[in-house]
Amino acid sequence: MPLILGIETSCDETAAAVVEDVHEVRSSIVASQHDTHAPFGGVVPELAARDHVERIDTVIGDALAAAGTKPRDLDAIAVTVGPGLAGALLVGISAAKGMAVAAGLPLVAVNHLEAHIASNSIEHADFVPPAVVLLVSGGHTLLVHLTGERFTVLGETVDDAVGEAYDKVARFLGLGYPGGPVIDALARDAGPGPLDLPRAMMDGSYDFSFSGLKTAVVQAVKKADARGDRLDDAEVAAGFQEAAVDVLVAKTVAAVRDVGVDRCGVAGGVAANSRLRERLESEADSYGFALRMPSPGLCADNAAMVAAAADARVRDSEFDGLHVAAQPSLRLDGVWTRTRT
Ligand code: KG4
Ligand code: ZN
Repeated sequence: MPLILGIETSCDETAAAVVEDVHEVRSSIVASQHDTHAPFGGVVPELAARDHVERIDTVIGDALAAAGTKPRDLDAIAVTVGPGLAGALLVGISAAKGMAVAAGLPLVAVNHLEAHIASNSIEHADFVPPAVVLLVSGGHTLLVHLTGERFTVLGETVDDAVGEAYDKVARFLGLGYPGGPVIDALARDAGPGPLDLPRAMMDGSYDFSFSGLKTAVVQAVKKADARGDRLDDAEVAAGFQEAAVDVLVAKTVAAVRDVGVDRCGVAGGVAANSRLRERLESEADSYGFALRMPSPGLCADNAAMVAAAADARVRDSEFDGLHVAAQPSLRLDGVWTRTRT
């Protein structure tokens, strides 16, 4: 049963976790940098790298201690190599290499998107291909068909990721960073608001577009201000969220039905969104497909998902050498994966 240390530093969370056999998360430490980036309304790459450098050793040490594990007990170290911020990725990769050399452990290079998808497997033993996965985060919005042999990207955003749209709308409204949880909470108070905003690309394609929605929010607020009729933040949040979630849900359900699978997974930071979860649950009930979502704590960036994504490769001794490099623009499409069906 592989015991794997996962390391994640692709964006603004410094994370390490010890996971045994995919499902047993012995420890998962996530040091968030939200306070560092909040004044800027988004992630500042140089500050992210600096914070990772300051925290990585402590975070790894804490993950090992919380798991009651010594490096020599581990079977491998799994580290995110991309996509993400180059400087940030390098911090995790360097720490992983250093530890691999010192403890004589093999390394596994992990695609961050593959890790988000694997976050579903941690708690759901029945999350196996074939399935459709909606991957929604601050950097990505993808619909993926998991065939068992490989990932096929059915569609993706042509501009902003949906989490990025949440963050930009929150910044415009002065609600702080990250915007997703704040807008989610505000919208819940308001309920689906009367503010009707456009749903983009509802043309049968699986691609998404969210930058127009963000602009529509800005225009609606400015127009109302000009009329001397200031819109309530909760009303704006609810209108924006309803439009974003409508599109995500419609395309996910269409993909599940068109591709002909009976399993659907959701992953990434936006998968923690209460309205998205509620709407998908009700669609899964209506159409009779199995919906699997990570608990909210495993949706955002963490290292347990990185370790989980490496499990099959560790079992088959498919290791990467010490030459692994940061791949900031790594894609999911065309990545051949190992499954355990
Ligand atoms: O997966 P993640 O931690 O990092 C990336 O890989 O990007 O996702 C972060 C994103 C942010 O844009 C954040 O605003 C969004 O996830 N987010 C949410 C919620 N919680 C986090 N968006 C909507 N509703 C939420 N409850
Ligand atoms: Zn992520």
